[in-house]
Formats: sequence, C-alpha cells, structure tokens
Amino acid sequence: MHNNLLGIHKYEAEDEDLMAEVLEGLNQSQKKLPSKLFYDQKGSELFDQICDLKEYYLTQTEMWIMNRYIDEISSMLGEKCLLIELGSGSSTKVRMLLDHLDDPVGYVPVDISLEHLLSSANSIARDYPNIKVLPVYADYTQPFVLPDISIHFSKKVIYYPGSTIGNFTPTNASRFINRIAENSGNGSGFLIGVDLKKDTKTLEAAYNDKEGVTAAFNLNMLKRLNGELKTDFDLSQWRHHAFYNMGEGRIEMHLVSLKEQQVSLNGTGIEFKKDETILTEYSYKYSANEFEELLEDGFKVEKVWTDEENKFSVQYMTAR
Ligand code: AVI
Repeated sequence: MHNNLLGIHKYEAEDEDLMAEVLEGLNQSQKKLPSKLFYDQKGSELFDQICDLKEYYLTQTEMWIMNRYIDEISSMLGEKCLLIELGSGSSTKVRMLLDHLDDPVGYVPVDISLEHLLSSANSIARDYPNIKVLPVYADYTQPFVLPDISIHFSKKVIYYPGSTIGNFTPTNASRFINRIAENSGNGSGFLIGVDLKKDTKTLEAAYNDKEGVTAAFNLNMLKRLNGELKTDFDLSQWRHHAFYNMGEGRIEMHLVSLKEQQVSLNGTGIEFKKDETILTEYSYKYSANEFEELLEDGFKVEKVWTDEENKFSVQYMTAR
C-alpha cells in the first residue's frame, strides 16, 4: 500500500439490475446484450490483448498522436491538473500524460472491473509517488458522484481515450458528453480519443483479427453470463461476427447462433433460431465534423490532433 493511494470508492450495481437488463435485451426482436458485460477480469485481459494486435490500429495510432503532440497537449492541460480517467482499465495510456504534464496533482481512475482497477491504481501510485490516486469503482455511464477531493488543483480534466465514445449511439454519446459538461463545471477540460471514418477493409480487419482474440472477447460475454446469471449457453454453438455498417457509420459485433437452440435464464427459456444473432456492441466512427455536432453547447473543441493518414483523432475541448 502506498501513501498516495487513497481508499477506493465503490458504487455497486445491484445484481437484479443485470438480470433485468439481460432479460430485456434478449426479449427484443434484435436480441442484445449490454457491452459493459465484456469487462470482467478475463474480458479486460482480452481487451488488453486486442490493443496490442497489429490489425487493431486504434491503440497504436492514438499513442502515436499522443507521442507526437505531447508537448502541445501538456501545455493545453496546464499545470497542477486533476486527471479523471473514465474506463481506466489497465491505466496504460495515462502514463504518457503523467510523465509529461506539468506537476499533475491527482489521478482518479474510474472502472467497472474491480481487479483491474485495484492493480492499476496500485501500480500508478507506486510509480508516481507525487500524485494522489483515488480509484473509483463505478459504471461511469451511470451518474455517480466524484469522491471528495481534498487536494488543490488548477483544472479538472476528464480523460477518455480509446474511442470508447464510439460504443454509445450518437444520441447517447451526445447526452453523455453534455452531462459531463454540466457536472464538471466551466473551464474543465476533456481530452478524448475519437476513431475516424475510413475504408471498410481496415475497419473490418480491426474487429476480425487473425488470432481470434476479438472472437474470444465477444464469446467471453456468454461465459460470464453462465457464471454470474447461471445461464446455460453452449459456447461451441456460437460464433463471432463483426462487420462495418456503412449506412450507420458503425462496426457491429454480433454472436451468431450456429443452430436452433434454447437457453435458460432465470426460469425462462430463450429461443434462438439458426443464424439468429445477439448484438453485443456498436463501435461508431465519426468524421471531425460529425463529432463536433454531438457536442451541442456543452463543450467547445479547442484542438484536434490526427495521424498522417487521418485514421484517428485526439481532441481537446473545454466546458462552457
Ligand atoms: C472499447 N472500445 C473502444 C473498443 C472498440 O473498438 O469499440 C471495444 C472493442 N470491441 C472489439 N474490439 C475492441
């Protein structure tokens, strides 16, 4: 335990909520499962592996941009900032910021994978003894109150890398961003990674890697349901399917039923036809203009950094 690691704050979701959410999703005509179910311990590890894949250009490109423009980014964030990272996972990307910012005072990682959160908060506290680390265990898509932060900071900056914003529908993304603007207060910063529109081949390769890590990540959701909600999904009877829906500007991830089958959930039998799918994730891709339209009045874009092929963007905005 390190002195600068403060106690964890937990905002626990009720089990019944998960059951109700899953039941509701599986009773729709296009069956759905909530994407947050990806991130148990195993899923978070698989996601870390995805980020290292050659085909998954998002992580490498975002880090290239951060590396290339870190001085500009640091001067925009200013000195003594408090960084709040939404969906912090293994807290890898934030190290680049912590290494270069001018005397950052605090880091608040927020995540729904408890094991991941605790181990990464611990290693950040160890490696950055001058920064206070306040881990928050929460589903950040739901409203939660930030813990009392008894440290003096000059600016609050929300850090939301990885283009996770793409996993919301545009309407929900807009609501989410505007809620953050309201809660964080005038002048607060928001540093966000946003994946850009590009050719279908590159996009589809990123979500259908040759090693099958993304397939395992997708199927892990069923394994998790079997463990936590006592469903009886037979994993050998499902396959991963991801494609770019150009009309909607999004990657869709599905699980395809390989045969007609029934799965039991909380005493009810859910029927699946052969080739019927469960939608597990959207990953929207934006042009810079499309993204700016989502912001409405909440945030003003100050600067957009991209790579040489315009694959990905890192954007800095301030709340107004
Ligand atoms: C977390 N999120 C930004 C990833 C994405 O690309 O939409 C999740 C993911 N799904 C499959 N591969 C990665």
